[in-house]
Formats: sequence, structure tokens, C-alpha cells
Amino acid sequence: MTLARPLAKALRVALIQLKSGADKQANLANASKLISEAAKNADLIVLPECFNSPYAVDQFRSYAEEIPKGETTVALSELSKQHGVYIVGGSIPELDIASNNIYNTSVVFDPKGEVIAKHRKVHLFDIDIPDGITFKESETLTGGDKATVFSVGDWGHVGLGICYDMRFPELAQIAARSPHNSFAMIYPGAFNTTTGPLHWHLLARARAVDNEVYTLLCSPARNAEGYQAYGHSLVCDPMGAIVAEAGEGQEIIYAELSPEKLASTRSSIPVNFQRRFDVYEDFVGEGKAKVSDL
Ligand SMILES: *[C@@H]1O[C@H](CO)[C@@H](O)[C@H](O)[C@H]1NC(C)=O
Ligand SMILES: *[C@@H]1O[C@H](CO)[C@@H](O)[C@H](O)[C@H]1NC(C)=O
Ligand SMILES: *[C@@H]1O[C@H](CO)[C@@H](O)[C@H](O)[C@H]1NC(C)=O
Repeated sequence: MTLARPLAKALRVALIQLKSGADKQANLANASKLISEAAKNADLIVLPECFNSPYAVDQFRSYAEEIPKGETTVALSELSKQHGVYIVGGSIPELDIASNNIYNTSVVFDPKGEVIAKHRKVHLFDIDIPDGITFKESETLTGGDKATVFSVGDWGHVGLGICYDMRFPELAQIAARSPHNSFAMIYPGAFNTTTGPLHWHLLARARAVDNEVYTLLCSPARNAEGYQAYGHSLVCDPMGAIVAEAGEGQEIIYAELSPEKLASTRSSIPVNFQRRFDVYEDFVGEGKAKVSDL
């Protein structure tokens, strides 16, 4: 059997571990400056979760915007066009006027500034530990109802999830396997200083190795005020090796995704041809999963 080449040529990526605060205009201005810097050495740029707003459930509605009309989407569209790069726009609170729902949404732009994908976070994060932390996204947010895969020009396909979506292997499997054959999963995410050390690297490596794809995790920088994001934005290769990693402060990390690495991983450990659908169901096959077709 011939090996599919899901990554046609090397792709240069940059992850911007942005430090953001309560001032939306300042967040956008700072993101814009870092995008200009990153674009010098990247074909595709990733921003963190909640990069234009504080991460606090009671704030989502006041920062929410319509997509594509809102100012953040307009600004990122301009930047992708100006620099001729793909931009995965972290996540922002999206206001859907028709339903009055708020979604946690990541928008993707091509080098012409066109919106080519929009992922609404599927799995909402609700926890309620007695005498401890209570955090209920579902009180203010609505979950999306589709997996998201988009096309990066001649390079191939990429799957997209947001933060907590990373803990559910299914979205990555849908993106990685036929008919989508993605070469990477991208997750803007904001783990905290407890869950970060426990699971951030583990989940990046698990999703990468399970599916033989690159994983790109982009966190906000740690900010003394407000939500304590873990940081440590990273790129993990299909063998599970972390090939680039940030610290906790604001920084840009770069990596080159290699078609040779992907092909050698898949040919040396050929899990993709050895599944036993006579033993378990193929829930990912053509027509089985709901995938966004934007
Ligand atoms: C954004 O950039 C400005 C100017 O460089 C800086 O003063 C500000 O602290 C930055 N914002 C954050 C949240 O770091
Ligand atoms: C989206 O959900 C994540 C938690 O997984 C949270 O960090 C973030 O604040 C939410 N973002 C927005 C913009 O609603
Ligand atoms: C981080 O979130 C987890 C739940 O996901 C919670 O148990 C923990 O207390 C939080 N840690 C901090 C430092 O806020």
C-alpha cells in the first residue's frame, strides 16, 4: 500500500504566547506587533485561547463579538492579508445574534485574509469541587456541534480544537484519519498551574502519538493579575518528541513541520493500516462524524 503524504512540504509555524489583559485594544495592538514579527519566519501563526479578553466566565459576554463582523476578526483578516500568512486566531468569545448564544470560537484565516474555518469549542469545562473551585463555562457559553478540519493551501489538512477539547481524543482521530488525513492538530488552550504540570505535555504527546500527527498547543503567557495560565506553548512531533517549547512569559516559538518525519513515523509504526474494525466500530470513517465544512 502506498503511504499517503498528508504534508506535502515543510511548513514553518510560529506560536505566539501572548500576554493579554483586560484592555481589548491593547491586546489587539500587542498581538498585531507580535504577528508582524512572527510572519518573518512562518507560514502559519497560532494565537492563544482568549487572547483578546480575560479568561473569566462572567466576562465572556461583555467581550463577545460577531464573526466575521467583529473588530477582532476584521483585524486578524487584515493582518493575514498584509503578511501573507495563515493565522489560527486563538479563541475569542463569539456572539451569535440569531440565538443570542456565546461560543468559545477559533477563526482561521488564509493569506488573502479570508476566513477558512471556524471552530466552536465542543466540550465545555464545568467543574464544581466541594469547598474548592467552581467554574461553569456552560452557564455562559454554548458548545459547538462539529469537529473542525481546514486546508492549509498546498500543504494539506489540519484539525482544530480548543483547550478542554484536547482531553477528548475523538476530535483528533476524526481529523487525522481518512477521509481528512490531517498532518497536525492545533489547540489554543489555557490550562492553569495545577492541570498544566500534570497534563499539558502528556496530552500533547498522547494526541500526537495516537494519531501520528504534529500537535501545536498555544497558551497565553502567565500574567500576575487574573487567571494563572500555565504557559509552555509547544510543538510536539508525530513520534511524541517536543520540538519547541515556551517558558511562562510572553514569547514566540518556532518550528518546522517535516513531511519526512511524518512519513517515517507512519511507515515505521503503521497503526493506520492495522485497525481492527471487526473488533470495534470505525466511528470516524466517511460520513460518521460531523465535521465543519466552512
Ligand atoms: C502591550 O504592549 C504595551 C506596549 O508595549 C505594554 O505596555 C503592555 O503591558 C502590553 N500588554 C500586556 C498585557 O502585556
Ligand atoms: C474558552 O474556554 C477555555 C477553557 O477551556 C477558556 O480558557 C477560555 O476563556 C474560553 N474562551 C472564551 C473566549 O470564551
Ligand atoms: C486548576 O483547575 C483545576 C481543575 O481543572 C482545579 O482543580 C485547580 O484547583 C486549579 N488550580 C488553580 C491554581 O487555580
